[in-house]
Amino acid sequence: MLTILSLMQPLHRKAPLFTSETMKGRKNNNRSLFIVVFSIFLFGIFIYNEDVTSIAEFPFSRPEGQGIQEGKSKLIDSIQEKEEIDNSLTVSVSMSSRTKLEETQEEESEETQEPIDLKSIIAKEKKEEEEEKIDLPVAEEEDDEDVELPSEDCDLFTGQWVFDNVTHPLYKEDKCEFLTAQVTCMRNGRKDSLYQNWKWQPRDCSLPKFKARLLLEKLRGKRLMFVGDSLNRNQWESMICLVQSVIPPGRKCLNKTGSLAVFRIEDYNATVEFYWAPFLVESNSDDPKMHSILNRIIMPESIKKHGKNWKSVDYLIFNTYIWWMNTFNMKVLRGSFDKGATEYDEVPRPEAYRRVLKTWSKWVDKNIDPNRTKVFFSSMSPLHIKSLDWNNPDGAKCAMETTPVINISAPLEVGTDRRLLVIANNVTQSMKVPVYFVNITTLSEYRKDAHTSVYTIRQGKMLTPEQQADPNTYADCIHWCLPGLPDTWNEFLYTYIISQS
Ligand SMILES: *[C@@H]1O[C@H](CO)[C@@H](O)[C@H](O)[C@H]1NC(C)=O
Ligand SMILES: *[C@@H]1O[C@H](CO)[C@@H](O)[C@H](O)[C@H]1NC(C)=O
Ligand SMILES: *[C@@H]1O[C@H](CO)[C@@H](O)[C@H](O)[C@H]1NC(C)=O
Ligand SMILES: *[C@@H]1O[C@H](CO)[C@@H](O)[C@H](O)[C@H]1NC(C)=O
Ligand SMILES: *[C@@H]1O[C@H](CO)[C@@H](O)[C@H](O)[C@H]1NC(C)=O
Ligand SMILES: *[C@@H]1O[C@H](CO)[C@@H](O)[C@H](O)[C@H]1NC(C)=O
Ligand SMILES: *[C@@H]1O[C@H](CO)[C@@H](O)[C@H](O)[C@H]1NC(C)=O
Repeated sequence: MLTILSLMQPLHRKAPLFTSETMKGRKNNNRSLFIVVFSIFLFGIFIYNEDVTSIAEFPFSRPEGQGIQEGKSKLIDSIQEKEEIDNSLTVSVSMSSRTKLEETQEEESEETQEPIDLKSIIAKEKKEEEEEKIDLPVAEEEDDEDVELPSEDCDLFTGQWVFDNVTHPLYKEDKCEFLTAQVTCMRNGRKDSLYQNWKWQPRDCSLPKFKARLLLEKLRGKRLMFVGDSLNRNQWESMICLVQSVIPPGRKCLNKTGSLAVFRIEDYNATVEFYWAPFLVESNSDDPKMHSILNRIIMPESIKKHGKNWKSVDYLIFNTYIWWMNTFNMKVLRGSFDKGATEYDEVPRPEAYRRVLKTWSKWVDKNIDPNRTKVFFSSMSPLHIKSLDWNNPDGAKCAMETTPVINISAPLEVGTDRRLLVIANNVTQSMKVPVYFVNITTLSEYRKDAHTSVYTIRQGKMLTPEQQADPNTYADCIHWCLPGLPDTWNEFLYTYIISQS
């Protein structure tokens, strides 16, 4: 973390040079023609997409820090080319610099060796799955034993994944009618199911046993709302499934209206909600359906329009990350969308991210009564798009992975932009309203096995067998299967919520 902090200085000095250069535009005609054609092609890909899933195919940019660390500041060159197509449409093409980083990546990455007993477990498990299908009742009686809470100072986010098919998954995929086709991997054809059987074990304590009724008691008469991008929606779906099994049919309903989706639990007068705001602040990507916009533009100081929907909520869980990741610079609108502004500046990603989080933190400090509302901020959910990151030369993005990274003695680097983690951690700690920082990043980086991969939908349709056979093009290594990893993220929320009386 210290290294990254110290790297931020040179970055900030370099970035404005780059910005002014691209803002001037390029004169080279051959290049312009190529860019226009390529841009139209990319735009074509994106315009029909319904969801952020599509960015799974987009070359992701690595954190610049890595390049600079290796003295390869060239990294920033050749990454972005920009050309006006006409006055209203500007498409930015981002070229991945991954290849340049590969040499150093390979040297640094660890040999991931699984313990032998894990392999035998898996072999055995596979065999058993083929032989019998056990269908356990989900809404079984909850025992009366007291839930043991971890001590307040225990770091829940440092620990390891342990195989535990007795307590996990916390619910069954086919018993939760509210799951969308995006996340139901087994129903969509995934054969291995071990990804559902991992429990997060903190090093110095244990997560309390999950009891839906206990959580619902805490939520009685209250609203819980996730605010952010499709990863927070992923977690929202998980939360619904975690609590819904103890609610009888007809006493729960799901209502999606505009940017807000509300799951109502009648008997507890409680709601579990999701509000779409991928950048938290106002942006041109705020339409919950038509938001697949390549040319993303934000208004970093504008949050009221969204914020008015977050007032009088009792538990607010925020995130913003994935939408920042397909260009190194963020486009910042000069003026307001409402007044028809179209001009923008390009601002280095960390700088724009800090501005957005500052706006957000000011809004929270001004509008949230900490006596009523608990505020959470989830750190970045990582991607697994290059199997060499975990030393699997035969992999195809995340598609061939059936187990987490088990050997965690060497650091794992999957391309997460940790500069944003430092900023989010810093901002959340400097606020008047206490914010619980849900540090999911590192523990999720081990879960290369848990993505929806080719067992998902794209542009609203299930992948065809042909598409499934081409994971390098079609695998979604951003979102996660349910049941699965986001259940663990919710176990952190659960732990916090039941610990507060
Ligand atoms: C785990 O990785 C480290 C570093 O790469 C290696 O030295 C060690 O032997 C590995 N441990 C196991 C059990 O494979
Ligand atoms: C859990 O895994 C163990 C070890 O592979 C196996 O013996 C057992 O049958 C599994 N239990 C369930 C419920 O799948
Ligand atoms: C997040 O947790 C990881 C361990 O999972 C730890 O190494 C890291 O320092 C934590 N970061 C913050 C900002 O708390
Ligand atoms: C139901 O919960 C809302 C807050 O979510 C509260 O305003 C309302 O008074 C509650 N109604 C009852 C009948 O408890
Ligand atoms: C869904 O929510 C909207 C807005 O709150 C409301 O107008 C509508 O009646 C609700 N629909 C159902 C079926 O509850
Ligand atoms: C929160 O409650 C405490 C103690 O009841 C009180 O002193 C404080 O003024 C309250 N804060 C707000 C913002 O209402
Ligand atoms: C956040 O960053 C600022 C400026 O770099 C620094 O002064 C402050 O101490 C940091 N706060 C925390 C909580 O890390």
